[in-house]
Amino acid sequence: MIKQEVIDKIIDAARIEEVVGDFVDLKKRGTSLIGLCPFHNEKTPSFNVSVSKGIYKCFGCGAGGDSVRFVMEHEKYSYPEALKYLAQKYHIEVEESERTPEQLIAQNKRESLFIVTNWAGKFFKETLWDTEEGRAIGLNYFKERGYREDIIQKFELGYSPEAWTALYTKARAEGYNDEFLEATGLVIRKDDGSVYDRFRGRVMFPIHNLTGRILGFGGRTLKTDKKTPKYVNSPESEVYHKSDVLYGLYFAKKPILDADNCYLVEGYADVLSMHQAGVENVVASSGTSLTSGQIRLIARYTKNVTILYDGDEAGIKASLRGTDMLLEEGLNVKVLLFPDGNDPDSYVQRFGSAAFKNYIAEHQRDFIFYKTQVLLRDAGNDPVKRAAVIHDVVDSIALIPDAIKASVFVRECSTLLDIEERILIAELNKIRISQARKADRKPEPLATPADTSGPSPKMAPIGEPEMGASSDVLQEREIIRILLHYGDKLAAWEVDSDIPIAPLLLSGLSDLSFDDPVCLAVINIYKDYIAHNELPEERVFVGHADRRIADLAVDLLATKYSLSPNWNDEKRKIYVSHESERLEDLVYGAIYRIKKRKVEQQIYRIREELKIETDSANMELMLANYQKLKDISKLIADKLGTIVIK
Ligand code: GTP
Ligand code: MN
Repeated sequence: MIKQEVIDKIIDAARIEEVVGDFVDLKKRGTSLIGLCPFHNEKTPSFNVSVSKGIYKCFGCGAGGDSVRFVMEHEKYSYPEALKYLAQKYHIEVEESERTPEQLIAQNKRESLFIVTNWAGKFFKETLWDTEEGRAIGLNYFKERGYREDIIQKFELGYSPEAWTALYTKARAEGYNDEFLEATGLVIRKDDGSVYDRFRGRVMFPIHNLTGRILGFGGRTLKTDKKTPKYVNSPESEVYHKSDVLYGLYFAKKPILDADNCYLVEGYADVLSMHQAGVENVVASSGTSLTSGQIRLIARYTKNVTILYDGDEAGIKASLRGTDMLLEEGLNVKVLLFPDGNDPDSYVQRFGSAAFKNYIAEHQRDFIFYKTQVLLRDAGNDPVKRAAVIHDVVDSIALIPDAIKASVFVRECSTLLDIEERILIAELNKIRISQARKADRKPEPLATPADTSGPSPKMAPIGEPEMGASSDVLQEREIIRILLHYGDKLAAWEVDSDIPIAPLLLSGLSDLSFDDPVCLAVINIYKDYIAHNELPEERVFVGHADRRIADLAVDLLATKYSLSPNWNDEKRKIYVSHESERLEDLVYGAIYRIKKRKVEQQIYRIREELKIETDSANMELMLANYQKLKDISKLIADKLGTIVIK
């Protein structure tokens, strides 16, 4: 945990125009800065940065937030990762908040494991390039396989000497202790207490985390006998969790974003060869079947995955299941097969880059169709087996969260399977209904933790409330908008003229409740501050851990009145001054309008109840109540009549 005071310091220092300016070419326009949005493709700029508010907002795709949010979205960082990035940019020392002794030990241990592992990476690399054994055996092997020097350097490939304790001896001489060497799996301790190197006489593939630090290794033997395992890998440790790592992702991050597609291969060698061929948006699952952690990692960067299989049918069938998980995460999955037992590596090395690129461009197929065909071929004419295939395929389609996409597959698979579409749909619905029952839907919780690393949900388009938002929500949002824009301004028209608008507005609304949970949360934050005689700053909301609060605040702060792409629209400019000069009308107008609506709703409800009420005593009570509400409603209408309505 980073200390709150350090977080405040970082957020204070991180000027939005500087943070965004590192990635986007910004030009001054009116009171804001404008540029081409980095979050979607556009030719005319609709990406606005407000220096005074400390926020960015794209009027094209809806992206918006503060400096921290920008870094999270742009670099796909979690909240703490983004803070650390900004701390580094502004030379702020990140002091982590107080930890228990156990946490401190764990933290120090993790750091030590990292240090030892990265030291070992350097050792293997130097051995490969600078020793006779390394060059003659390791480097020679890589070159014979056709890898260029720049690729060998880029991936920091290495060589581990044949001797039993080459690494161990060197590590001890340089002061690294046994505990960490063992915990990272670099050395193995025998029962008799003696210690030897895990990787001997192997070429080394370091496995990097997202920031380029080495977490562990894969070591490939150069022997061809069947008894030696081809690869030996680092064991699981506090820093190396295999199920959350994809080989090559550090180098593929940006290429995946640029291509909006990720190639998934099996081996280290495939990743290297594809980079060498100029296809860099590639990661490897490293032999194990894909985990959900790995899939979520990919989904941070793209929704489109293409799996490259080598052409072995048994292997393909085994992996069909793992692929279902990709569908479940909402990814678009394609597959691609190489001919004659080639894998991506052997194909590149045999036929060259151009042929490879050509091949992958032309042979990608949609996973569902591919699965259908493989299974059908297997089933032949056996009707029982064919029925099983239909179920299997529909099972996969049912995993696709997007109903429209699923229905396209249903239509096309009905042709492939030679079965009526409506039968497939009926089958699909059966599965969906039972899924829905199992899921026993819970309401979405309001607070989401700040450091969720997943991709952020796409926001509703811009400035305006989401489609279908009811007028109730619109009115509640209008209150929030006034609070955010003018809450700290003084209500100069009041007798007690040094009271700010926020407490005035809230006391005017104290008798009614907010229906929209996000608006309510904002109101409650204001109430908390006001109870302490303070007012929250904008950044409390735009930097809020709950993204729905942050999104609402950014949307409202960036409304057409302040951060408009049409800043040069004369009418609107006039409107801006108009609104801020008539704050009294604005505040009371909002209060009365929302009250009027809530009263009208109560009136409506009573009228409905009266229709079915039979007890005359009850009816009398209700009528009295009805009349009272009518009076209030009229009173409010009169008040509103004296207010200049916009
Ligand atoms: P080359 O045979 O050198 O082309 O290596 P490759 O990277 O293409 O490996 P291959 O396609 O044979 O296997 C795919 C991946 O599975 C490898 O990159 C390893 O991560 C993993 N793997 C293969 N063999 C072994 C093994 O014997 N032990 C372990 N633990 N993993 C293996
Ligand atoms: Mn291979």
